Amino acid sequence: MRKQIAAANWKMNLTLQQGEQLLDDIISQPHSLKENQQVVFAIPAPYLAMAQQKLRNKEQVFVAAQNCHSKKSGAYTGEISVDMLSSLGVHYVVLGHSERREYFNESNAFLAEKVNICLENNITPIFCCGEPLAVREAGTQNEYVALQLKESLYHLTADQLRKVVIAYEPIWAIGTGKTASSAQAQEMHAFIRGNIAAAYNAETANAISILYGGSVKAANAVELFSQPDVDGGLVGGASLVADEFVAIINALQ
Ligand code: PGA
Repeated sequence: MRKQIAAANWKMNLTLQQGEQLLDDIISQPHSLKENQQVVFAIPAPYLAMAQQKLRNKEQVFVAAQNCHSKKSGAYTGEISVDMLSSLGVHYVVLGHSERREYFNESNAFLAEKVNICLENNITPIFCCGEPLAVREAGTQNEYVALQLKESLYHLTADQLRKVVIAYEPIWAIGTGKTASSAQAQEMHAFIRGNIAAAYNAETANAISILYGGSVKAANAVELFSQPDVDGGLVGGASLVADEFVAIINALQ
C-alpha cells in the first residue's frame, strides 16, 4: 500500500519558541494514523535538533529539512550537508521547492545531484515539481512537469525512484489561496504516475507517493486527498495553525 503523508512546510517562519509551541499543540491533539500514514514536519534548519528530540518517540511522525547541499562537505559557507542531517537523525528533505527554484536558481540538473546524494545517504527526498501560471494558461503543464521529472529523477534506477516522494505543487496555487480543483490535482497526479509508468513500469509508478501542495487547508483536504492518485499534501500556510494542520492530518484516508 502506498504511503500517505501530511507534510508541513513551515518555510522561513516562526521563532524557536513558537515552533516548539506549535509542535506541542499539534502532537498533543488526538490523531490516529493508519499503518501506511505519516506526518512530516519540514522545518527551518536551526530547529531540526529541537524537533527531532521532541518527536523521537512518536511513531510515524518525522522531521524533514527544507533543503540540503549536493556535496558531502567542504567550503560551502551557510549550506547543510546530508551527513549533518543524518547525524541529527533526519531522514527526509524537501528538494526543488518552487521557491528554491525561483529565488535560488536551482535547476533540474542541480536538483538531480541533490537527489543522488540524498539517496546515497538514506535520506528520502520529497521532490517538488509544478508549473507556473503562464504554463498552465498555455496548457503545456504536462510537458513542463514531465521535463522536471526526466531531468531530475529519471536517471535513477527503479529501486531508487521508489524511495522518492513526489510533491506536485502548481506555483499559481502556492500561498495564493487559489487551490487547484481536486479534478485538476487528480489529472496531474495521474499524468505523473503514467509518465513514471512509461519511463519505468506500472509497478514502480504505483509504489510512489505523490503529494499535492498549494493552498491545502482543512476545508479542502478531504476532497483533495480522496482523489485516487493524491497521496497526501505538502502544506505551507495552513501548517502554521495547529487546528488546521491536525484536521489536514485527519483528512488522510
Ligand atoms: P501553501 O504552500 O500551502 O501556503 O500554498 C505550499 C508549499 O509551498 O509547499
